[in-house]
Amino acid sequence: MCGIIGFTGSGDAREIILDGLKRLEYRGYDSAGIAIQNKNEIDMVKAQGKVDNLISLSNKNNKLDGHCGIGHTRWATHGVPSDVNAHPHMSTDGKFAIVHNGIIENYAEIKSKLIEKGVKFLSETDTEVIVQLLDYYYDGDLKKTLVKTTSMLEGSYAIGVLCADYPGTIFAAKVASPLIIGVGVGENYFASDITAFVSRTKNVIDLDDYEFAEITKDKVTIFDHNFKEIKKEERKITWDVAAAEKSGYEHFMLKEIMEQPAALKATIEPRVKDGKVNFDELGIDIKKYDRILITACGSAYYAGCVGRDVIEKLCRIHVHTEVASELRYRDPIIDEKTLVLVISQSGETADTIAAIKEVQSKGADVVAIVNVVGSTIAKLANYTIYTWAGPEIAVATTKGYTTQVAVLYMFAVWAAFKLGRIDENKMEEYTSNIVSLPERAQRTLDLNTRVKKLADKYHEKQSIFFIGRYLDYAVCLEGSLKLKEISYIHSEAYAAGELKHGTIALIEKGRLVVSVCCYEPLLDKIISNIQQVKARGAQVLALAIEGNKKIFSEADDVLLVPKANELFMAAVEIIPLQLFAYYVAKNNKCDIDKPKNLAKSVTVE
Ligand code: G6P
Repeated sequence: MCGIIGFTGSGDAREIILDGLKRLEYRGYDSAGIAIQNKNEIDMVKAQGKVDNLISLSNKNNKLDGHCGIGHTRWATHGVPSDVNAHPHMSTDGKFAIVHNGIIENYAEIKSKLIEKGVKFLSETDTEVIVQLLDYYYDGDLKKTLVKTTSMLEGSYAIGVLCADYPGTIFAAKVASPLIIGVGVGENYFASDITAFVSRTKNVIDLDDYEFAEITKDKVTIFDHNFKEIKKEERKITWDVAAAEKSGYEHFMLKEIMEQPAALKATIEPRVKDGKVNFDELGIDIKKYDRILITACGSAYYAGCVGRDVIEKLCRIHVHTEVASELRYRDPIIDEKTLVLVISQSGETADTIAAIKEVQSKGADVVAIVNVVGSTIAKLANYTIYTWAGPEIAVATTKGYTTQVAVLYMFAVWAAFKLGRIDENKMEEYTSNIVSLPERAQRTLDLNTRVKKLADKYHEKQSIFFIGRYLDYAVCLEGSLKLKEISYIHSEAYAAGELKHGTIALIEKGRLVVSVCCYEPLLDKIISNIQQVKARGAQVLALAIEGNKKIFSEADDVLLVPKANELFMAAVEIIPLQLFAYYVAKNNKCDIDKPKNLAKSVTVE
C-alpha cells in the first residue's frame, strides 16, 4: 500500500527521490518523508499530507544534501496520518533510518520488550520496532544485524535501510510485500514498483521473499540469511516512461480510460491465431477439471463475475466466484479437479495471495490473470496469463478491469472449444467478437462529451442505484464501485429482479437509477423494472445497445453502445459508466486519481 524508494549514485538524491515519490504517490498519500545520507549523518524531513507538502518542506531544508537516500509515501495502518508517524523512522541515536511497506504483526510484543530495555519510541507505528531493533542489535556489521532483526519479524515487509556507518549504501529486504531493484549506470535503486525509477532505468532485478540486497552506486549484491550471495537475472521493462505519465490529460484516470482500445488490442492480438483464440502454449489440460472457481478483490472480482457468466454459459462447467478475503478463511471444498482463476491488476493484493496459498494447499491449480510482470501472484500461480494494459496509476482501475474481462472472454471461448462445447464456426464467430473489442471500445469513447453533460446534470445526487440483469448486473457492480470510489456518492448495484425485495423502498422522487439494458435477451424484463422505478418517481439513465428504439420512451436519458454478441458486451458497456464516475467526481472537485482512504495496491490484510 505504501510506496518506498531508495537511491544511491552521483546525482542529487533529494531531487531523484522526491520525483520517485510523486510517481509512487498512488500507493498511499496520507504522509510522506525522505532521509538523505550526507557523509556519516542522516538528515530527514517528513510531512503529513500529499507528497507536494513534503516537496515544499524539503526545498526549504538545505541539509538534505547528498547522493544516497530513501523515501516513503504512506497509507496509514498503525497510527494516524501525522508528521511523527510518517516514514522514514530513525533510531533514537540517528544512526539508522528505515522505510517500510507492510505490517509487522508482532510489533507490540517486540515494542514492549524494547521499552523494558530502555528504548524510547516516538511514533505509534509498527515500523519503528524495526529501526529500534536494528539499533539495539547493531555491532558494526549491518548485514548481520539486518538478518538477525528481520528473523524476529512476523508479518509482511519490504524495507529500505540507511545506516550512518555505510555512506553511499542502501539496504533492502522483503517478505510478502513488493520490492524491486533498479539497475542503472553508476546509480542504483530499490522501489515498490518500477514507476518510481522508470524515467532513469528500465533494468530491474526482482528481489524475492527472504532475500536481502546491499546496494551501492556501482554494485548490487543479493544475499540470503546465511550471507550466501545469490545470482539474479536482470530483466528489461518494455514499456515507455510516457506510459506512466499523464501525457497532457488532467488525470491518470481519464488517460487510462482513453487508453482502453490500445490496451485491449495489446491483450487480445497475441492470443489470436488464424481467427481463433489460442491459449495452448499455457499447457493447461482443461479436461482435467470438473469445476472452476474465480477469486479476486475489488474490481478484479467484478471482472471475475463477468467471466463466471461467460465461462459457465459456453463451457457448461460449474463456475463459482468468491472474494479472496472470504475464500481464504472459509475452508472451501476444493481439490485437484478444481481450476482456480485468480485475477489481479497489481499481482500483489494480500488477500488474493492468501487465497492462492489456501487453494493450492488443497491441491487446486491456479491460473493467474495479472497485469504486473514478475509480481508475486504471477510467480505463485501454476499458469499465468498477462493482461497487457501497461502501467495503471489511477487508484480506480479502468483499463486493468477491461483487459481482465477480455482475457476471461478469451479463456471462456478457448476452454469451450477444447471441451468440445462449441464447434470451429462458433469459435471463429466468438473470436471475431472479441477481436472487435478495441474498435468497439474506441467508438464507445465517442460518448465522452455526452456522458460529461449527463454528469453535469446528475452530479448533485446523494445516492445512485445501478440495476441490471445477468451480465449487465455484473457490469453494474463495477459501475457502482467506480462511482463511489472516486465521487464518494453513495451507490449500490442491484440485480434488477431483486429490487422489489427491499431496495424499491428507497426509490423516491428524483432518485437516479442507472439501468443497464445491454443483455438484449432480457430487455423486456429490465424495461419492466425501469417502469417500476419510474412509477415511484425515479429518474432513469439507461445504457442500451445501438438500434434500441424502445428504450427512448422508457428512460429520461439514454446512452447507446455498439452492438456485438450479447455475451461480449461487458468490456464495452463499462466504459460510459467509467466516464460517468469520472465526470461526476470532477464536477464534485474530488481528488480523482487519489481518492480518500483508498490505495492502488492493497498489500496488507
Ligand atoms: C484496490 C484497488 C482496486 C482493485 C483492488 C484489487 O482496491 O483500488 O482498483 O480492483 O484493489 O487489486 P488488484 O491489484 O488485485 O487487481
